[in-house]
Amino acid sequence: MMRLDRALANSGYGSRSEIRKLIRLGRVTVAGQVIRDAAFPISGADVETVRIDGQEKPLHDHLTVMLNKPAGFITAMEDARLPTVADLLPPGWVRTGLVPVGRLDRDTTGLLLLTSDGTLNHRLASPRWGVWKAYRFRYDGPEWTAEDIAAFADGLTLADGQRLKPARLTPLSGHEADLSLHEGKFHQVKRMVQACGREVVRLHRHAFGPLTLDDDLAPGTARLLRQDEIKALRAAVQMDEPAEGIR
Ligand code: URA
Repeated sequence: MMRLDRALANSGYGSRSEIRKLIRLGRVTVAGQVIRDAAFPISGADVETVRIDGQEKPLHDHLTVMLNKPAGFITAMEDARLPTVADLLPPGWVRTGLVPVGRLDRDTTGLLLLTSDGTLNHRLASPRWGVWKAYRFRYDGPEWTAEDIAAFADGLTLADGQRLKPARLTPLSGHEADLSLHEGKFHQVKRMVQACGREVVRLHRHAFGPLTLDDDLAPGTARLLRQDEIKALRAAVQMDEPAEGIR
């Protein structure tokens, strides 16, 4: 059981005080009944029956978001100087406590997940679970050779001596290549490419575990994940047990 005002705020529909006001004004219904008590208890049976001004507002325990990150934004929820990925999201979502899963550099574009589910975030980012991430990059320097591909597959050693896990390098035309990794060290792609005598000039992430960036999600826009996508993500980090909370 959870209070109605908290359930709506956790689901990204506004701050607690905004929601309480809507409830007081009689604009919120549960299973067709106007509810004027912010503490009205919501159970799993109610998650699809809440409406604000007649519009369905499905409830979520946590929000998990797919963002198509443009260049020029840092992966943080606030910063005194620089634009952050939080600037690209509706304030109601940010208030639920979304945290980016890992990090993309300021100049890197593409798929960034954010979630208010701390356990899911921790596991998706942790080397222990080894979730695959797929990048496409453009580079300066010589074309890749079969030896380079084998070196990535064996596990490269970076300039500072760090030994990396196996990665899949797939050269493409036009000085581009795909790279899949299942770890996420600081500047990892750029440093791997550098360790092989080339330079990344553009970097884009198009997949994270079971999820692929939507073709029609414009840069700078975000959407909530569907239940089937959340299920696939959870399964990738062995969180298959039923979600806790109101569901
Ligand atoms: N590797 C990098 O070097 N930068 C990123 O943003 C992501 C992976």
